[in-house]
Amino acid sequence: MLYSDELIGEVLSANDIVDVISSYVALKRSGRGLVGLCPFHSEKTPSFSVSPDKQLYHCFGCGEGGSVLTFIMKMENLDFVEGIKFLADRAHIALPEPEMSESVDKHFKKKQRLISANTYAAKFFYNCLISEDGKTARDYFDSRALSPKTAAQFGLGFAPDKKNSLTEHLKTLGFKENELVDFGLAIIKDNKYIDKFRNRVMFPIIDVRGNVIGFGGRVMDDSKPKYLNSPETVAFNKRLNLFALNFAKNKKDDTLILVEGYMDVIALHQVGINNVVATLGTALTEEQSRLIARFAKNVVLCYDTDEAGVKATMRAIDIFSKTDCRVKVLSLVGAKDPDEYIKAHGGGSEAFLSAVKKAVPATMFRINVLKKNYDIDNSIDDKISFISEAAKILLSTNNMVEVDAYADMLSKNYDIKKESVYAEIKKLGSKQDRQTMGRVVRQSASAGVSKNEAAKQSGNQMPPSLKGAISPIEKAEKSLLSLIFSNRAASKMAQNELASEEYSNEIHKKLAKICYDAWDSGTPPDTARIVSSFESSYSGYVTKVLMDKSVYDDEVSATADLLITIKQEKLKKRISEETNPAVLMQLLKQQADLKQKRGGAPL
Ligand code: UTP
Ligand code: MN
Repeated sequence: MLYSDELIGEVLSANDIVDVISSYVALKRSGRGLVGLCPFHSEKTPSFSVSPDKQLYHCFGCGEGGSVLTFIMKMENLDFVEGIKFLADRAHIALPEPEMSESVDKHFKKKQRLISANTYAAKFFYNCLISEDGKTARDYFDSRALSPKTAAQFGLGFAPDKKNSLTEHLKTLGFKENELVDFGLAIIKDNKYIDKFRNRVMFPIIDVRGNVIGFGGRVMDDSKPKYLNSPETVAFNKRLNLFALNFAKNKKDDTLILVEGYMDVIALHQVGINNVVATLGTALTEEQSRLIARFAKNVVLCYDTDEAGVKATMRAIDIFSKTDCRVKVLSLVGAKDPDEYIKAHGGGSEAFLSAVKKAVPATMFRINVLKKNYDIDNSIDDKISFISEAAKILLSTNNMVEVDAYADMLSKNYDIKKESVYAEIKKLGSKQDRQTMGRVVRQSASAGVSKNEAAKQSGNQMPPSLKGAISPIEKAEKSLLSLIFSNRAASKMAQNELASEEYSNEIHKKLAKICYDAWDSGTPPDTARIVSSFESSYSGYVTKVLMDKSVYDDEVSATADLLITIKQEKLKKRISEETNPAVLMQLLKQQADLKQKRGGAPL
């Protein structure tokens, strides 16, 4: 660990969660806590609540939640260590350097230095653009109708047609040549250090926090490669960043438009459409989809209109299906990309904005693409296959309202009974169930596990936060955990009856152990530290457990009740799976005993 637990504890307790969150969100008193509009999703009525007692926040709308550290990490897009540094800084606590392991320390210093070199480079490129030498580049931008103001806003620049002007410049600022190679700003050619970017117009790539993390450089003619991008470095990860998100995150509405090219983003921003981002020369990644989902409820995909663009759109729809974003697709007519479209329509924003309004929902787009493969007007066979494939698409949306609306549309547009569409969906649905089940059983069978075990595993492999429905046992455990977390007597009682390893999933096991251990050592469990000890994707779930608002007349007898419920549920499960009559008899007897207990005194 980079910092000691004590130090982390000190930093966290020096940052009151209400103070910290208040500087981002307007909070109002409500009962024992505070509420406000969630900064992580867009909403009109406050469902974001902060508990000063527990030092936790949780949004009942989007499920985000955690400690002051989780909050600052999400809000400022920081990793764990950066988050601690941020909070230490805020509370004027000096973090001792030596605690940092040497390799991590090196990584940080290198990242800082790289960002500083990039920042100097961006300034250098910009100065070249506006200098005498930059005329060709200025003319190029002019020919693409980009104004000097836009160039300044995006920090666009020009890498001169010289061997090593940037390298020489950065050397005077104290950077070493081999370092610049490492940073992706210089290369070695014929045993000499030369600039990586030469005779190109430059697009700095800036992260959400405003750091220049890399560059894209475009030729000013038709030569290849069209763009040269910075290599992956300690600061530049193409999977994790988006072009112009630093601007787009300040948009007014809850929609982001995703386009393919840097030029498209810039052309749209120039006409005042500033909720636009692009990937960094690679296909959309899951990380990027999650990043977009953090800043917007809706995403409009606006890829090039060629075949590759349609393919990329289908892939993006698939990737976004794992987020909460609602996806629409904008297919531009008469232009290959947004930049062209703007130009073709007089250089203003109106035409594009009205096209955005007409963007079609992802499901509709998929059905339209599908339809192109079938001759449904002339072939009955094609029509049947089309409906059956369309049913597959509907089934994959997992949204009954949507399924219903589209079944309606299909039946009206293609003159089929709605019942037939439903029959097709139902047929596929049950087949799909059997297939997933079959797969689990087959896999486990080869690993020598019984069918019953396999069925159990299919439910228990995934942690609860990532799973739709939770089992009755897990539900009872959740309530139990929220009790033992705040009540010592409840924890002691649970500890005697249910060991931490006996909880039904990894998150619950870990939470139980933390609570038991904390009370054993005589201190209440520390929420912020609990949350930070889990992987960040679980923090929403963990916080929900810890912030459970249930009120019990008597927490200890509630605990006793829950323990019985858990035992009963476990027994029920075993009874349903047991085949040996003798064992079964025993289990049934235990069940009867438990029932009696429930009626009588607590455990
Ligand atoms: P485009 O070729 O559509 O580029 O590639 P563009 O930004 O619209 O540029 P113009 O209009 O031709 O000037 C889309 C994106 O793919 C990446 C870049 O991120 C580009 O913005 N790309 C493209 C590369 O990384 N390298 C290339 O050689 C080409
Ligand atoms: Mn283009």
